[in-house]
Amino acid sequence: MNLITVAQVCSVNNQIAKGLAVADDANEVSQTIEALMDEQRKFAPPAAFLAQANETSPSIYEAASKDRLGWWAAQAERLVWKKHWDQVLDWTNAPFAKWFVGATLNITESCLDRHVATQPDKVAFHFEGEPGDSRDITYKDLYEEVCQLANGLAGLGVTKGDRVAIYMGMVPELPIALLACARLGAPHSVVFGGFSSDSLRDRVNDAEAKVLITCDEGWRNGNRIELKLYADKALEESPSVEKVVVVQRTGGDVPMQAGRDIYYHDLVASQAKDRPATETSSEDMLFVLYTSGTTARPKGIVHTTGGYLVGAATTHRLVFDIKPDDVYFCTADIGWVTGHSYIVYGPLANGVTSVIYEGVPNYPDKDRFWEIVEKYKVTQLYTAPTAIRTFMKWGTEYPDRRDLSSLRVIGTVGEPINPEAWIWYNETIGKGRCPIVDTWWQTETGHIMISPIPGVTTTKPGSATIPLPGMSADIVDDEGNSVPNGSGGYLVLTEPWPGMLRTIYKDPDRFKDVYWSRFSKPDEKKWVYFAGDGAKKDLDGYYWLLGRVDDVMNISGHRISTLEVESALVDHQAVAEAAVVGRADATTGQAIAAFVTLKGGNPGGPELIAELREHVAVKIGKIARPASIVFTDELPKTRSGKIMRRLLRDISEQRKLGDVTTLANADVVNEIAHRAASAASAQAD
Ligand code: WTA
Repeated sequence: MNLITVAQVCSVNNQIAKGLAVADDANEVSQTIEALMDEQRKFAPPAAFLAQANETSPSIYEAASKDRLGWWAAQAERLVWKKHWDQVLDWTNAPFAKWFVGATLNITESCLDRHVATQPDKVAFHFEGEPGDSRDITYKDLYEEVCQLANGLAGLGVTKGDRVAIYMGMVPELPIALLACARLGAPHSVVFGGFSSDSLRDRVNDAEAKVLITCDEGWRNGNRIELKLYADKALEESPSVEKVVVVQRTGGDVPMQAGRDIYYHDLVASQAKDRPATETSSEDMLFVLYTSGTTARPKGIVHTTGGYLVGAATTHRLVFDIKPDDVYFCTADIGWVTGHSYIVYGPLANGVTSVIYEGVPNYPDKDRFWEIVEKYKVTQLYTAPTAIRTFMKWGTEYPDRRDLSSLRVIGTVGEPINPEAWIWYNETIGKGRCPIVDTWWQTETGHIMISPIPGVTTTKPGSATIPLPGMSADIVDDEGNSVPNGSGGYLVLTEPWPGMLRTIYKDPDRFKDVYWSRFSKPDEKKWVYFAGDGAKKDLDGYYWLLGRVDDVMNISGHRISTLEVESALVDHQAVAEAAVVGRADATTGQAIAAFVTLKGGNPGGPELIAELREHVAVKIGKIARPASIVFTDELPKTRSGKIMRRLLRDISEQRKLGDVTTLANADVVNEIAHRAASAASAQAD
């Protein structure tokens, strides 16, 4: 059965060739932008906020644009360097950047040592365990534990340059593990604790990690997550790992392999609480963090030391209006980049007190975040639009139970925020007193790029506003020309920035190809970074982010590639072929919709659907489980064999299918559409 005609393929190809705003998503994008731009309200910084804000003058933008490198150098002076740089930026070998060239440092000296000297008893982390236990860790405590673990790891043979994989729940030993690696100059590779054994194995193997740090189990929603068991399974096929360090979190009875596995508490017990910081060059690798791209193989995003720290610390201070007595709470997991930059490195470099929460927002009740805000008198809250939409659904009674008057700035990250959720956040959580910072950035950018400065920028619900000082972005059409205000296109970054990814681990060609080939003109020495997002500039020049333009989905702010899920499905013995799209979802932003062709006339059924969803959970992790699976005899494809995801997205979102209804075999498409509509409501979690 053919689901599409040649004429239809041509029409789609023409659309793509014409470069409609964002390839095959043109309609969708313009609908989204129309909806977003119905929101006309503007919010200047509230007067009471302005009266105390660190930055209140737009001159900061001018200062940075007049002398961008000088401005960054001034920011870098706030940090601790062992040796000063000779040059701020070396871009001669573009797109491979070097920042603060010639400088040496150890990132933990900015994050720990200097605070231990001036404020040893200040709390670095209030740890709030999901079951209700809590622990305050001062800067001195943190320093000592980091040094003890660094000494322990050194005893296991970890030296500068060795990769250490980290697969843990959100416990204090997680940031301690990152910092201990950094103390030794050993790059860390954190794998989110929600990933499966297979995902862990692939990442450990790509990074060739020497040591893995994990937990016995983690707490999540009152359940035990069997991290050590998953890790053991991964390690069956990860030959590079010599030692496994196991943090006891639940005290669960987990198998320990003699000679390989050691408990964290045994490892650190007899270690000195001090250790000199290994000198690293500004461009030594600090960490690799894997993220989904448009192939089934995740990319190891490489970040280096000096520029990354300058970018993370500067943006954290600026965007969150950080002051010495603040209590800052970022609800992300350290397994993602947000946790790296805005739980660990940025906040510690700025010497603030942060809250780390282990679990889910509805354990034991739906007011857990608000209970934490009240308990610790949180001043900044940084969370995700998907969480805000969930809170909206739960109702105002939960935040209303608690005193939120300590809050001063509230932020979002990970996906576009719809104006309705923005307004709810502003009124129900911020009580109209707190500027909202909608922050756009990526694993690749290392730190926030587009965001309001809370005491300076007038905000508009749904817009991340404008690039921060020191950053340079644009929106371009298919030919790479800047679009005028009021138009849409592709978001690009037009000048290098300190925290930019340096390469893809062991794959510099892919790095050039994915990010720098689309709009750069190497002959003219013009290097343009393609972010993979669609965006629009409004008449005031504000940026409105519109989501990915490639085959990457954004599920609750998490990037998952359609190809990763497709190859997990095809890996199941009953599946012949699979196509996956992200369909709009009111809570999670997008939900995963899968279309599956089975082998040998297998008609499928609810049991197989359940089995396939579980199969994907095992291959990738629960976050990648399709919300709906539809069995179909054939998938719509172009003549060159490319799956017509646009058509499937239309079907998934129950849009009118236009041309398709004129097909001779329109019944088949209608049949898929019909099955998809019922699946979407029946199968979602
Ligand atoms: C999306 C997360 C709209 C975007 C820090 C980007 C956003 C991808 C926003 C990166 C925002 C992130 N508004 N979209 N404020 N923030 N995104 O690598 O599509 O997990 O390309 O980094 O999330 O996701 P990543």
